[in-house]
Amino acid sequence: MKDLTPNKADLDPIEIASIDEIRGLQLDRMKWSLRHAYDNVPMYRKRFDEAGAHPDDLKDLKDLARFPFTHKNDLRDNYPFGLFAVPREQIMRVHASSGTTGKPTVVGYTGKDIDTWADVVARSLRASGLRAGDMVHNAYGYGLFTGGLGAHYGIERLGATVVPMGGGQTEKQVGLITDFKPQGIMVTPSYMLNILEGFHKAGIDPRTSSLQVGIFGAEPWTNAMRREVEAAFDMHAVDIYGLSEIMGPGVANECVETKDGLHIWEDHFYPEIIDPATGEVVEDGQEGELVFTTLTKEAMPMIRYRTRDLTRLLPGSARSMRRMEKITGRSDDMIILRGVNVFPTQIEEQVMATGGLAPYFQIELYKSGRMDAMRVHVEVTPDADDELSKTAAARMLTKHIKDIVGVTTEVLVGGPGSVVRSQGKAVRVVDSRNKD
Ligand code: DLL
Repeated sequence: MKDLTPNKADLDPIEIASIDEIRGLQLDRMKWSLRHAYDNVPMYRKRFDEAGAHPDDLKDLKDLARFPFTHKNDLRDNYPFGLFAVPREQIMRVHASSGTTGKPTVVGYTGKDIDTWADVVARSLRASGLRAGDMVHNAYGYGLFTGGLGAHYGIERLGATVVPMGGGQTEKQVGLITDFKPQGIMVTPSYMLNILEGFHKAGIDPRTSSLQVGIFGAEPWTNAMRREVEAAFDMHAVDIYGLSEIMGPGVANECVETKDGLHIWEDHFYPEIIDPATGEVVEDGQEGELVFTTLTKEAMPMIRYRTRDLTRLLPGSARSMRRMEKITGRSDDMIILRGVNVFPTQIEEQVMATGGLAPYFQIELYKSGRMDAMRVHVEVTPDADDELSKTAAARMLTKHIKDIVGVTTEVLVGGPGSVVRSQGKAVRVVDSRNKD
């Protein structure tokens, strides 16, 4: 793999500023953001008043803990534009996420917000090892999803060439990558596996592709998956994180030279980790739920937004700003099986560690009598497509999951192509418990 470490001179000065300088900037910006939310969004004014917390009370960053949380339901309850802090005419763009039930959650951006977003994505791409003049294949979905357009504007801001491919049409993706020879690819990690399969189907060795770095996010993925993809393409794989409510992609990104967790771009997004049960802020280094407060967002400031994502905060390394560890999962995705908490990422690690299995899996929850039970659907690699290998892999994966994750599962090993493929964000858990 090529050394892609960026030049220090190309970084934004704030990326390598002192912690004191960053904290000072955050305090000024946080005061502005709380005041902006209080003055312009009725929900925040009511909530702050009820909690007896006034924007003027913030003297120190720690005082943020006195302010109430914002939840995903608050976006639904204020559908579509009730949380906007500027007149609708000043909104340059909206995005929305579908959600599983009912109304989508809508977010808005002013021209300045779009500009900030392009900056943080460009910064993320630079951290990933890309630079002006490179070409980036963008396979995040375009449309209401923030992935496609968010990445697109960042690639342009970096001064790179964007290939606005979007999701799907795997054969075409492989053809364009082969013909255009981009240095970078942006896509969900699960869809990257489809593209990998596309290379094999086309009879092209993925290691001969021009790709030097993949910037993967929008869903949880493990270091085991990183090793798999890096080896398959002979390229770097780095993690990009974000969520629509806070901005979209580019809230945090890994540095290619360290790959030790994602630096949160703290000059725009202030992180806290809380105990999800009590709402208390925990010390850096402890696991919990990630909470964000936007520091510069005009159109839709978010104060103490509960992401449901589970991680912990770590000190800066390649950059001064704090890192978050790779996301373990969302609290809503946690499966509780006979008292044991299980995240799909833990199953992913075990699938990757089992010889003869391809990196595709789906978890099915079902009823066994009155008890909840779990079944893992996986498939063998083409060179292990025989009954003996399937039986051996099933036995081994069942044992790994029992020994390491601590739950008993049924493992169903199919032939190559039997597990459903992802087109964007992978559906890791299918719940058939309420089916007759
Ligand atoms: O997924 C934004 C995005 C697009 C991020 C492209 C990165 C790349 P939403 O659709 O609002 O926005 O979903 C946000 O996705 O709360 C996490 O649960 C999950 N997520 C996003 N990035 C990561 C990541 C986009 N790197 C939700 N690792 C978040 C784990 C991630 N989970």
